[in-house]
Amino acid sequence: MRIGIYPGSFDPLTLGHLDIIERARNICDKLIIAAALNISKKPLFSIEERLEMIRHSCTSMNNIEIVTFNGLLADFCKERNVNFIAKGIRNRMDIDYEYAVSIMNRKLAPETETIFLLSRSEHSFISSSMVKEVASYGGDITSVVPQFVKQKLIEKFSS
Ligand code: PNS
Repeated sequence: MRIGIYPGSFDPLTLGHLDIIERARNICDKLIIAAALNISKKPLFSIEERLEMIRHSCTSMNNIEIVTFNGLLADFCKERNVNFIAKGIRNRMDIDYEYAVSIMNRKLAPETETIFLLSRSEHSFISSSMVKEVASYGGDITSVVPQFVKQKLIEKFSS
């Protein structure tokens, strides 16, 4: 069985993430969507809220597993016998950064490949941080996040 993993902060999930999930799950038997517990920036959403948004947006997908992980992604990949890590690439900055990360991950987990999926052009500008900033000022984020996520952002910033 070919296992892929799509790791991220998902704070919150965007349509860009969903597109990568759809495409990555089509090239493996099982795709693990792994939300990191230890992220550098303080998240807006708790891990439970981030998982809820992923679950809600992926209900129709049958070959996925949604989990959290702590510590090194490479260790988690070895533990779960992951064949490949899927990363979405939006621009040159992503390439530079993800290139270095993939080399380090290969050193740490030589059995796990990293594959890069190029974002669709209409998603190439979307980032969770931009979505949060726009939502915090009451801007319309309908075209960049799932409806459920939009609702959660509105609730978060109105409370
Ligand atoms: O959505 P993000 O914030 O770009 O996701 C980054 C993430 C969580 C995939 C990355 O920071 C990660 O893999 N963290 C786990 C710790 C780790 O393995 N770091 C070493 C990378 S060289």
